[in-house]
Amino acid sequence: MRKSSVRKAIIPAAGMGTRFLPITRAQPKEMLPVVDKPVIQYVVEEAISSGIEDILIITGRGKRAIEDHFDISCELERKLKQNKDSRQFDEDRQISSMADIHYIRQKEQLGLGNAILHAEKHCDDEPFAVLLGDTITIPFKGEKSCTNQMIDSYNKYHSSIIAVEMVARKKIKDYGIIDGNELEDGIYSIKDIIEKPKPENAPSNLGAIGRYVLTPDIFDLLKDTKPGHGDEIQLTDALRKLNRPIGLVTKCRRYDIGDKLGWMKSSIELCLEREEFAEELRAFLNTLNCSEKMA
Ligand code: UTP
Repeated sequence: MRKSSVRKAIIPAAGMGTRFLPITRAQPKEMLPVVDKPVIQYVVEEAISSGIEDILIITGRGKRAIEDHFDISCELERKLKQNKDSRQFDEDRQISSMADIHYIRQKEQLGLGNAILHAEKHCDDEPFAVLLGDTITIPFKGEKSCTNQMIDSYNKYHSSIIAVEMVARKKIKDYGIIDGNELEDGIYSIKDIIEKPKPENAPSNLGAIGRYVLTPDIFDLLKDTKPGHGDEIQLTDALRKLNRPIGLVTKCRRYDIGDKLGWMKSSIELCLEREEFAEELRAFLNTLNCSEKMA
């Protein structure tokens, strides 16, 4: 693979996950299974398939399972060897040797902006990708990964890139919404971003989906950012001060796994795309349709 202009990725995964209580009392939402993989494995795979060589995961209290997941499990490998299960053995090895994964702990959950500040030394003045650890993206057929599409835009505009998508009016209050001028199809020069506005005050219906390519000047802007919405240091408040970032409508589907319904939808849709499950699951879903009609 050709060396990418963006070599590093930050995956913030330290949030408390209050929207997914009670399951997040004792386990990270980033480790929730979607079909047969934890959410964060999809995120790491997206980074790697985009040419990223170095990944920093921001973890926190109660998130040890994430580190264990990407570690080598000697006991498990021994067992798989004994069972002569070479397919599972190779799959397991592949997970533990995925990329150079580093970890840093965010000791207090002071917001996404604060989590990203923990990556300053690691990024060493290079542009970097941010992939939220509770968000899965699946590229449209024939398209590159979401992060790869963003790196392509970064190479063209040399500005920070924020992935956006059209959000339904009633969901606007849950997103950072951009105000911008369309430069070309699906590409906006951003004038402002408003964190979780009321629909009547929103400048557009284009909301940030949890994928960014950022230039290192974001760190100084984050240091100057006071707690905002929810009394947390919001990445959006620092992004507002960047010099004309670009909003990119990426060609992908996106699931917010931090949201209970988002997680359920992702599990069903991605299961339907797997040959070994599709037929039976579809038949099962059809029986639910029948009982709904009968009710
Ligand atoms: P969310 O906005 O979903 O916040 O974080 P949250 O605290 O995890 O979840 P809720 O809203 O209480 O349910 C988006 C991403 O940023 C990370 C989360 O782990 C998630 O991947 N995050 C958030 C941090 O790493 N640190 C924080 O202080 C907040």
